[in-house]
Amino acid sequence: MHVVVNAATSVDGKLSTRERRQLRISGPEDFARVDRLRAESDAVMVGVGTVLADDPRIGLDDPEPIAEREARGEPPKPARVVADSRARTPPEARILDGSAPTYLLVSDAAPDDRLAQLDRETVRIVRAGGERVDLRAGLAAVEADGIDRLIVEGGGELLFSLFSLGLVDELSLYVGSLVIGGRDAPTLADGEGFLSDSEFPDLELREVERIGDGVLLRYGVE
Ligand SMILES: NC(=O)c1ccc[n+]([C@@H]2O[C@H](COP(=O)([O-])OP(=O)(O)OC[C@H]3O[C@@H](n4cnc5c(N)ncnc54)[C@H](OP(=O)(O)O)[C@@H]3O)[C@@H](O)[C@H]2O)c1
Repeated sequence: MHVVVNAATSVDGKLSTRERRQLRISGPEDFARVDRLRAESDAVMVGVGTVLADDPRIGLDDPEPIAEREARGEPPKPARVVADSRARTPPEARILDGSAPTYLLVSDAAPDDRLAQLDRETVRIVRAGGERVDLRAGLAAVEADGIDRLIVEGGGELLFSLFSLGLVDELSLYVGSLVIGGRDAPTLADGEGFLSDSEFPDLELREVERIGDGVLLRYGVE
């Protein structure tokens, strides 16, 4: 599986405010780029923290890429993947709107009654891990279902785990021209944090492009 992390931060590396309120970091030109990225992917992944904070739909609405996907024999819209150990995704969440399949990666800690509430035709429950989702095993199961190209759109907790497991192949980072601040505001990679050079993911800067008021940085990740 090829995994691309796509995120937008402020110049101080924050994904949102300390209240975890979603905000517009990039503009229309970058949204179009993200749509293209989604159109070329088999699935788009987020952590349940992002589902609870932003209730994203992660759709693809433009008829042109949808038609192109269908012409290639692909499903019209990319699937969605949520890392959600305890099945906290609300049954009415927009990511479960049925417009594309949603894989819920849960762990053994997910209560049966919550899973029963989420049981529907377009939801695929994947159990992996004891307390927390075992991302390596969960993504392997999703890959076995034909998902080869995955975009991960945050948030910081999930991204740290993916970086620490060496599961990220590329990073596309849009840095908007704003400072958000706040020691408790989520950043691109939260989690426990790395301690030394030997742990830092090996990034290779491949491209720098000005888009709107900000800059897009593209990295390969070893
Ligand atoms: N600017 C952007 O590009 C962007 C993009 C996305 C999100 N955001 C912002 O980011 C914030 C949300 O980020 P977040 O860090 O709180 O949430 P997150 O990374 O979306 O989700 C984290 C949650 O995922 C679950 N999870 C399951 N297995 C995991 C694993 N192995 N490793 C890590 N997490 C795992 C955990 O909850 P369980 O233990 O319950 O499973 C964890 O608390 C929001 O403020 C949102 O607005 C910004």
